[in-house]
Amino acid sequence: MARIVGGVGTTHVPSIGKAITEGKQTDSYWKPFFDGFPPVHRWIAREKPDVAVVFSNDHGLNFFLDKMPTFAIGAANEYRNEDEGWGIPVSHAAKGNAALSWHIINDTVNDGFDITMCQEMLVDHAVMIPLQLMWPMGDWPAIVPVAINTVQHPLPSMARCYELGRSVGRALASYPEDLKIMVIGTGGLSHQLDGKRAGFINKDFDTLCMDQLAADPESLTRYSIPEVVELAGAQGVEFLNWMAMRGALTGQVTQVHRNYHIPISNTAAATIVLENAGTAARHAA
Ligand SMILES: [Fe+2]
Repeated sequence: MARIVGGVGTTHVPSIGKAITEGKQTDSYWKPFFDGFPPVHRWIAREKPDVAVVFSNDHGLNFFLDKMPTFAIGAANEYRNEDEGWGIPVSHAAKGNAALSWHIINDTVNDGFDITMCQEMLVDHAVMIPLQLMWPMGDWPAIVPVAINTVQHPLPSMARCYELGRSVGRALASYPEDLKIMVIGTGGLSHQLDGKRAGFINKDFDTLCMDQLAADPESLTRYSIPEVVELAGAQGVEFLNWMAMRGALTGQVTQVHRNYHIPISNTAAATIVLENAGTAARHAA
């Protein structure tokens, strides 16, 4: 049976890709952020996941505002990146696992989620930068991309994204192949890129979210989307991806690493590693 080994949450700011390309990991501006990754690398080296399920939001490379699914899951054996216009190099393609994707799609639809199934899907910096951060040698595992709309309102709620993660986690736990699977949530934390509050960061709320992510994630489901926008900024709603990641951890969850640094490109940059011991049975709550 498949086993969910844990989850990682990380920021996906495009300028990180430029810093990697230019080898600026030890520059004073970037070092406090990149210093958060060697513990992630050690955890990955120990757990050796075969597949990563990546919850993220598309920024216009695959979906645009005219057609924006609330939840979309890739069902391909390869996911290509293309030039997004940020000045960062186009990454090599990520391998997929279409059989696992279809298993997740079947189970989540069966659980009541209306999933857009994507047998072709481009993945943008929200997938590629976390892969580059976690596997700097480029040897990342196969992925299953799950795109959550954090861009075009109305957005799915914190509770809905957490429940999507729970459904994905149950699907993973019931997958018959002997795979080690990790889940990733990308984006955030607090930031707002435009408007009167451009540059807004809320360390107190970010700290609360990271604290509760391991200990009591359901307490975070009480925040409405307008409240998250107010507390975390207009783009801080990318935390929805972290909620889905946490939802997929259906066993005993322990935080094994955390890093938080302000700012990178007007964004609170955060990284967390959550270990998952054991997994719930298929139809457990
Ligand atoms: Fe983003």
